[in-house]
Amino acid sequence: MKVITTIASLNEALAPYRFSGASVGFVPTMGALHEGHATLVRQCVAENKVCVVSIFVNPTQFNNKEDLRLYPRTLETDCELLEQLGATFVFVPSEEEVYPETDTRVFDFGALDKVMEGRFRPGHFNGVAQVVSKLFEMVKPDTAYFGEKDFQQLAIVRAMVKQLDLPVRIVGVPIVREPSGLAMSSRNQRLLETEKISAAEIYRTLKKSVTMTDTYTPAQIIDSVINKINNVSGLCVEYYEIVDGNSLQSISSWQDSNYIVGCIAVFCGDVRLIDNIEYK
Ligand code: PAF
Repeated sequence: MKVITTIASLNEALAPYRFSGASVGFVPTMGALHEGHATLVRQCVAENKVCVVSIFVNPTQFNNKEDLRLYPRTLETDCELLEQLGATFVFVPSEEEVYPETDTRVFDFGALDKVMEGRFRPGHFNGVAQVVSKLFEMVKPDTAYFGEKDFQQLAIVRAMVKQLDLPVRIVGVPIVREPSGLAMSSRNQRLLETEKISAAEIYRTLKKSVTMTDTYTPAQIIDSVINKINNVSGLCVEYYEIVDGNSLQSISSWQDSNYIVGCIAVFCGDVRLIDNIEYK
């Protein structure tokens, strides 16, 4: 495995593979890797001749400076893990390499980024689209892998690929959970042990809610999930929405869609966690 920091050396390293038509798989990350990332990398390694993993904490997607500052940075252990997983190249560009000048592009995702994360983190998805489109341009992957935990991000990336007509296949990979059910996230590192116990209630509550759809409407389930989670010590729900899994717009009846997903954001202390669950 080789660690690469510039676009020029990335091009040099990938040239022979591109020339021979070898498939290039790509896993973009912000580092602080965990088993969720490892699952993406394993799939990428299994399905492609070359697996490129990027590690870049993208400033343009943070609407909160403190969140950016506190984002865990663990490059050394990340590289050890990636080596074990069989990644071919780790691309760790500097901020100057990714943004030699300010990226002023403004994407229009219609209603997709006006809800949920987009509503509470204004500008976040524009920043994600900026960096992912730049990384796609640099790596030129055949296939890129994204976790389904960031459910709305996956929808935005698919929409961006369609809008820009990029020749890359997007693969969504199911959420990986701790034995307690807590969705794996780099932010979990910031949770105290007691907070982790509380945070496990998020998925427990979501899972229970899926068994209640014969009796309750989506609005009633939303209320019940929010109340139950807010009653757990240290947890505070920012939003819970039950949406059509493609349009991400709220549904009012279980008959409104054949693909329904519940998406949640919860503060556990000052750590913001997201999760989601499929109703059908
Ligand atoms: O999901 C993430 O880690 C980031 O949003 C991504 C896709 C690497 C872009 O910075």
